[in-house]
Amino acid sequence: MSEAKRLAGEKAIDYVEDGMIVGVGTGSTVAFFIDALAKVKERIAGAVSSSEQSTQRLRAHGIEVLDLNATGPLSLYVDGADECDPHKRLIKGGGAALTREKIIAEASAKFVCIIDPAKRVDVLGKFPLPVEVIPMARSLVAREILALTRAQPVWRQDAEGRGVVTDNGNGILDIHGLAITDPVALESALNQIPGVVSVGLFARRPADVVIVGGEPPQVL
Ligand code: 5RP
Repeated sequence: MSEAKRLAGEKAIDYVEDGMIVGVGTGSTVAFFIDALAKVKERIAGAVSSSEQSTQRLRAHGIEVLDLNATGPLSLYVDGADECDPHKRLIKGGGAALTREKIIAEASAKFVCIIDPAKRVDVLGKFPLPVEVIPMARSLVAREILALTRAQPVWRQDAEGRGVVTDNGNGILDIHGLAITDPVALESALNQIPGVVSVGLFARRPADVVIVGGEPPQVL
């Protein structure tokens, strides 16, 4: 599977143009993209990063990391996904970076999503849907999610049983057991719950291009 991720990450370099500031997502597929980006780093003006993890990797390669407030809109955002449906709508946030990922996707003219073939689904929801939540609202949001979806929200914990803390200082509720027939409607409804910071459904702003890693990579 990591071979497919590498092939997808390397193929995304085709979308990098001279002088670009590149939006960079988070995860193991993106790590391959960052490593490939390092090989053409003289051609780009820098990167905007979606997580501390990606920032570290970019800086380790000598790629300058810029503030989105300073760069303004971006031409290109490259990121992975946990699930991708036939309309290029996504579930993201398996790496807890969904909020910054969503911000950069929104700011970017083209969102290129890089995945391995196992991420392709007909209906989103088998992968638990991540929701970033303000800590004091955790129980409230969980109750409202249950009432809205009848599916089970689970507070994400690390291996030691501590609540996962995002780069923004918040927690994650993962909603298990969904079959998302109307992703745009669910994204909007969950976004309305007070205490929800963002929802890992990328349906209102789906990917523009999906690269499925393989030999050769498939571009959708
Ligand atoms: C992080 C994400 C990732 O893109 C998603 O979890 C896929 O990760 P990987 O490339 O490691 O399979 O949304 O928040």
